[in-house]
Amino acid sequence: MSQAQTEDEKMVDIIKLLQQPPEKHETEAIFNLMKKLKEVNPGDTWLDNYNWHLQKQGDKFYDTYHVMLRIGSKVDPKNILEIGCRSGISICQLLHACSNNYIGDKRICLFDVFNDGFISPELVRMNLEHLNIDANIVEFYTGKSEEEIPKFKAENPQLKFDYILVDGSHDKRDAIVDLNNVANMLNPNGVIVFDDIAPDGCNLVDVWNEWKEQNGTTFKYFENFDGKGVGVAVQQ
Ligand SMILES: C[S@@+](CC[C@H](N)C(=O)[O-])C[C@H]1O[C@@H](n2cnc3c(N)ncnc32)[C@H](O)[C@@H]1O
Repeated sequence: MSQAQTEDEKMVDIIKLLQQPPEKHETEAIFNLMKKLKEVNPGDTWLDNYNWHLQKQGDKFYDTYHVMLRIGSKVDPKNILEIGCRSGISICQLLHACSNNYIGDKRICLFDVFNDGFISPELVRMNLEHLNIDANIVEFYTGKSEEEIPKFKAENPQLKFDYILVDGSHDKRDAIVDLNNVANMLNPNGVIVFDDIAPDGCNLVDVWNEWKEQNGTTFKYFENFDGKGVGVAVQQ
């Protein structure tokens, strides 16, 4: 006799999902999407950097974009926040993976300083639209995340997220502030994804370990170092 699943039973085991080794078709999907977005910005060297990591790591190459692909397709997070959206490749990876589902009811909040003369909200919109993703569903917050996130929290005290990417300033003092600021912004089973913890990234592993130590069993954790390095915390 089948019984209705409880909310707990319906929850995807995200740690188990992320522990699976990368599959060839996943890596191909991630790179195909970057190639497609390079049509918008042929001069952007992002894809070349990724190719360097892929060549170095071979089949075991695993990146934040694998995490986004899996979380997008299997978890389909509704409320999404990114610190450090750059040109939008990371949000494109996540939303493209979600796009078998209806995405119009998502809340998507993207934070960046947008101050290098290349990236802008307009560029993020262009990349989303190049993938036929409706850019109107995205909200932009321009400024330093160390200041913008506390302001945002004060204005939206009830709002919780299912997915938060921390990939903004890679200065270690700023990165720990970002992690601390978003630590109480998750729904149950929501995830914080922290990029660049490996030596081939920006070696932020000591920041990650310090934050993990502070937060203990509030989260379950996953790490991978077969690329730029990614840490994931899942709200318990
Ligand atoms: C590594 S890039 C993010 C890459 C992006 N997540 C992706 O994978 O497509 C880092 C981004 O953080 C932004 N950034 C740097 N310092 C920041 C700060 N203090 N507050 C907000 N964003 C910042 C930069 O402008 C840049 O776009």
